[in-house]
Amino acid sequence: EKDIYILGIETSCDETAASVVKNGKEIVSNVVASQIMSQKRFGGVVPEIASRHHVEQITIVIEEALAVAGLTPKELDAVAVTEGPGLIGALLIGINAAKAFAFANGLPIIGVHHIAGHIYANMLMQPMEFPLLAIIVSGGHTELVLMEEHGAFTLIGETRDDAAGEAYDKVARVLGLPYPGGPQIDKLAAESDGQVEFPRAWLEPDSYDFSFSGLKSSVINYKHNLEQRGGKVNPAHIAAGFQASVVEVLTTKALKAAKEFQVKQVIAAGGVAANKGLRASLEEAFHQEEIPFYVPPISLCTDNAAMIAAAGSAMFLDGIRGNLAMNGKPGMPL
Ligand code: KG4
Ligand code: ZN
Repeated sequence: EKDIYILGIETSCDETAASVVKNGKEIVSNVVASQIMSQKRFGGVVPEIASRHHVEQITIVIEEALAVAGLTPKELDAVAVTEGPGLIGALLIGINAAKAFAFANGLPIIGVHHIAGHIYANMLMQPMEFPLLAIIVSGGHTELVLMEEHGAFTLIGETRDDAAGEAYDKVARVLGLPYPGGPQIDKLAAESDGQVEFPRAWLEPDSYDFSFSGLKSSVINYKHNLEQRGGKVNPAHIAAGFQASVVEVLTTKALKAAKEFQVKQVIAAGGVAANKGLRASLEEAFHQEEIPFYVPPISLCTDNAAMIAAAGSAMFLDGIRGNLAMNGKPGMPL
């Protein structure tokens, strides 16, 4: 059988990325141009600036992905690009580059949902088994998704306010840590010799939804009250307490969902899945229940194009094709 090579392109937020994936599971090249230095200066992602970076980087990144793969455009089978959700200006840079590339080289184009991409990052590590539970935790998402088969996504729980990564970034800012705050808090929490007790947002007993804005407010109030009384803030203790609350709620709800839907596999995805505390907690919980649990390596947890190419490969094999009328969908449903 002929090998299938898909070029993936991802520009939904702040990483300009291109990758070639073979047969939906083997990374041939994986190029990511990060805008992290620029965001550190501004304390976060500024949409207009992100778009400008994408414009500067996209052609270089695509050419490098092909060069590393040692393939000419004609040797590809399709181009897969993030269609949404994300920042509209950022999405459009990737989509227009994908359209131009597909048109110039006579290739089909496939629009991929960013979260489907995060989930399919796991295809690059091991075959997916259904029913499958995906825990998606990133800067823009906190979702529990049930998959009965390839391409079939059922949302069973989501955040009602801040995404988990957003909460990490906001708490980090309160503690005066640089952007992005997730890795900083993770590190502080791991080294901490104690922790402040913060509340857990369980919501209704039967709900798989999440809420993190109350926790964020608790952290702010705790720090404010302590400073008012002339106390000295211990950032590590706050980081550890905050992380313990996030990790316990995520682990408990994910475990309950995995049992209720009798899934054969649980995977975690998204930038926050890089969190050491969360990984350890999920690994232990699912190990005890003997439910196979996987998290891709960190480089495949944070935004990248290999995951888009992997999801695009599964769609390609399903016969799904987009067309050149494709537009960015900032609020694209899964
Ligand atoms: O998936 P991602 O790269 O981009 C989005 O689609 O949002 O996730 C980025 C988010 C940021 O909020 C960042 O702070 C968080 O993931 N993050 C972490 C860690 N590494 C990245 N959060 C907690 N612990 C980490 N180690
Ligand atoms: Zn993402």
